[in-house]
Amino acid sequence: MQTQLLSGPEAPARAARLLAAGELVAIPTETVYGLAANALDAQAVAKIFAAKGRPQDNPLIVHIASLAQLEELTCHLPPQALALAQAFWPGPLTLVLPKSEPVPTVTTGGLPSVAVRMPAHSMALELLSACGLPLAAPSANRSGSPSPTTAQHCMADLSGRIAAVLEGGPCRVGVESTVLSLVTPVPTLLRPGAVTPDMLRGVLGELEEHPSLTKELQPGQAAASPGMKYRHYAPCAQVTLLQGDAAAFGRYLAQQAEPGVYALCFEEDIPHLGNTPYLCYGAKADAAAQAAGLFAALRRLDELGAQRVYAHSPTAHGLGLAVYNRLLRAAGFRQIELQASEDAL
Ligand code: TXA
Ligand code: MG
Repeated sequence: MQTQLLSGPEAPARAARLLAAGELVAIPTETVYGLAANALDAQAVAKIFAAKGRPQDNPLIVHIASLAQLEELTCHLPPQALALAQAFWPGPLTLVLPKSEPVPTVTTGGLPSVAVRMPAHSMALELLSACGLPLAAPSANRSGSPSPTTAQHCMADLSGRIAAVLEGGPCRVGVESTVLSLVTPVPTLLRPGAVTPDMLRGVLGELEEHPSLTKELQPGQAAASPGMKYRHYAPCAQVTLLQGDAAAFGRYLAQQAEPGVYALCFEEDIPHLGNTPYLCYGAKADAAAQAAGLFAALRRLDELGAQRVYAHSPTAHGLGLAVYNRLLRAAGFRQIELQASEDAL
């Protein structure tokens, strides 16, 4: 199959026609590009799993453009859902709710719940309104690789496997949406994103943070969200997270010097890196820049032929928690705490 790159004013309408015909289209959102299909068409949704190489039990997020669609997808809407929708939609927050009968189980990975969000991207909303369908859309990457934040990333992963990619420019946020379960006794954060725990607490009061946000699941421990079980976001290179100050980071990298070793660093680290090749993913205090740059940086490191990457660990707070969560998974939970430098004491 030849994958079309759709751009220009007619592009959303063309994408809508392909989706209505049961085809797959990669679409831009404010977080990452999604691989969309009609969420109510089991055959179309099955094609998503095949194109991505995604495990069948990993459920999809359903994208909507109106609250009327939310009512159709769920059999019970707790008042908290409406309060959150009012506060954060359109935006990078996904709500897990009890599913309604018309939602096929292939969409929900066999679960009785459905994950729903309204994306804050004008082209995505235009497309959703044009086709009038709820769209199931996981990130538009091959399963396991870094999520795509440009149309070119989607093409690199899925060209020849899907009908089209809708060109919508680089994604503003850069990491996937916050996933919040409202089917647990206390609302539970399953995946951190740009809607931060503090923002959620402001609306909900009570919020639990699932232990797997910052720790590896132990054997026998249940995954609250099936996606947490799988290796994620990983480039070909081996990634290790380093905790410590800029001088200690630079010193550690100097000790590792050999071809194929790269630093994934903050701007402040550059003066400490000597001859170590590096890619910068933002300033230390700028979690928004780190989020926007992370996945493109991981892909770029593969293009550069990196074999081992040492990433300077972000501060796991606010949006930084989302960046840390993704990097930790890219690193397969490998992290090293560096000794503080004397000049930093
Ligand atoms: O920002 C985003 O959320 C992007 C864009 C395209 O919207 N989508 C995305 O989808 O990241 P995906 O499939 O890569 O991640 C969906 C996550 C997975 O971890 C999945 O397990 C979880 O949401 N999820 C989906 N339905 C669920 C459910 N019913 N219960 C628990 N977790 C669920
Ligand atoms: Mg994904």
